Amino acid sequence: MKKSIFSLSSLSHKYIMAMAGIFLMLFLCTHLLTNLLMLMGDGGKAFDRAVEFLSTNPLIKVVEYFLFAGFIIHIILGTIIWVRNQKARPVGYHVALKTETSAFSKFMFHTGVIIFVFLVIHLVNFFFVKLGLAPVPDHARDGHDFYAMAVVLFKNYWYSGIYLVSFVFLGFHLKHAFQSAFQSLGLNHSKYTPAIKIIGTIYALIISVGFASIPIYFLFIHQ
Ligand code: HEM
Repeated sequence: MKKSIFSLSSLSHKYIMAMAGIFLMLFLCTHLLTNLLMLMGDGGKAFDRAVEFLSTNPLIKVVEYFLFAGFIIHIILGTIIWVRNQKARPVGYHVALKTETSAFSKFMFHTGVIIFVFLVIHLVNFFFVKLGLAPVPDHARDGHDFYAMAVVLFKNYWYSGIYLVSFVFLGFHLKHAFQSAFQSLGLNHSKYTPAIKIIGTIYALIISVGFASIPIYFLFIHQ
């Protein structure tokens, strides 16, 4: 009998979710590296060249489909796991019965929702313009002129503020995601878990501080 994604066991859910999560964590590394080129002080030339390469490379197009599939799978499974844990949560025994799983899902779901809201705002302002689903702003040459879009968007305190707050939650989400992905894949070991936790914290800090440096640069340094 065929199984739908909803009828898989909790363990299969966690396994698939961990794989999707690791893929998304790798995407964040490449996305950050490309975006940091905006800070070169060359008016976006190096960044434009990277965008040109990425948007004309057929392999990247394929990876983009995987990326969106990864996001959708991660969001659907995250929601299923959270709902299951909410239902399974014992009522009335607040303190004594707190488990790893309930703490994990409790914080991860909420930070995940904040990142999702951020992602919608972010995609509408950049990715949708490229796809022709949102209008090209006046100051941009065309739908690929992301540097010009970034300059104007990040000069706005509200827009940059939303990004900065989201990156705090992103860091929090990633710190837990990193170690819990290893746990879900059965790669936790009393000897290695402390090291995995430290690497996860460093990864989360690099990603959130790295991304935060972009709005901060456009707000306070870029003329
Ligand atoms: C200040 C930080 C960020 C900047 C300046 C930035 C910039 C951009 C730009 C310019 C694009 C369009 C690229 C293209 O379509 O060729 C884009 C797309 C995208 N961004 Fe970001 N981004 C930032 C943070 C993030 C974060 C934190 C996430 C995930 C949580 C994210 C997820 C995405 C996704 C999924 C796409 C569409 C896929 C792609 O084009 O690669 N971005 N971003």
